[in-house]
Amino acid sequence: SGRRPLVAGNWKMNGTRASLATVEAIRDGLSPALVEAIDVLICPPATLIGSCVAATYGSPIAIGGQNLHARPSGAFTGSISAEMLADLGAKYVIVGHSERRAYHHETDDGVHAKALGARRAGLCGIICVGETMEEREQGRALSIVRAQLAIGIPKGATAEDTVIAYEPVWAIGSGRTPTPAEIAEVHASLREMLDKLVGEEAAKIRILYGGSVKPGNARELMAVENVDGALVGGASLVAEDFLGICNAYA
Ligand code: G3H
Repeated sequence: SGRRPLVAGNWKMNGTRASLATVEAIRDGLSPALVEAIDVLICPPATLIGSCVAATYGSPIAIGGQNLHARPSGAFTGSISAEMLADLGAKYVIVGHSERRAYHHETDDGVHAKALGARRAGLCGIICVGETMEEREQGRALSIVRAQLAIGIPKGATAEDTVIAYEPVWAIGSGRTPTPAEIAEVHASLREMLDKLVGEEAAKIRILYGGSVKPGNARELMAVENVDGALVGGASLVAEDFLGICNAYA
């Protein structure tokens, strides 16, 4: 495909300063050949972004945020802007993760505003899309994710400022994954939609798969057509597991 794979870890609300040892172990465990082949990203909780940036300084690992406020600054107690993340040395930020959509009532329009915020600050936004089990059973998986993508993505998105992540809600933290054929169907549909939305640039934009990616299934999942990497939750908390997933590309 010519697209460079991205393996991204999302720590969610896990980790204290003791977890810097995990980032260091990942940093030290990536082989030179792997570093040639893929991009590696860790998204720790916001409290650890600064120290993770310091711990990975000069290494190939990028650090990112898990969420942002759409505005650059202002009276929004408790919120963090894209500019603040960039100021800490973050390069990416996850936008519209299904847990944000479910627990913080994020809408597709809100996701769009946040994706614009990420871009404004020079961050790469990882826009998450995915259907629930109920939506899949109703045969609506493709229409749901296509609409989430169409509304969420900024006009004129490029491969530098945008990554898409397909995460079926029912596969997150459940140990269940779609079949390779089901993943291929969604990724092909998203790629076709991307083409409609951004034209030629679409071919360069990466589409990750996320949801119960583990060392044991990574090779099979990453081999699916149009899957350009992984967004890893639980398995990114253990260096050995995260490295095992990265090694699907070794
Ligand atoms: O952002 C990551 C996803 O929500 C996947 O989480 O690997 O624990 O299923 P998981």
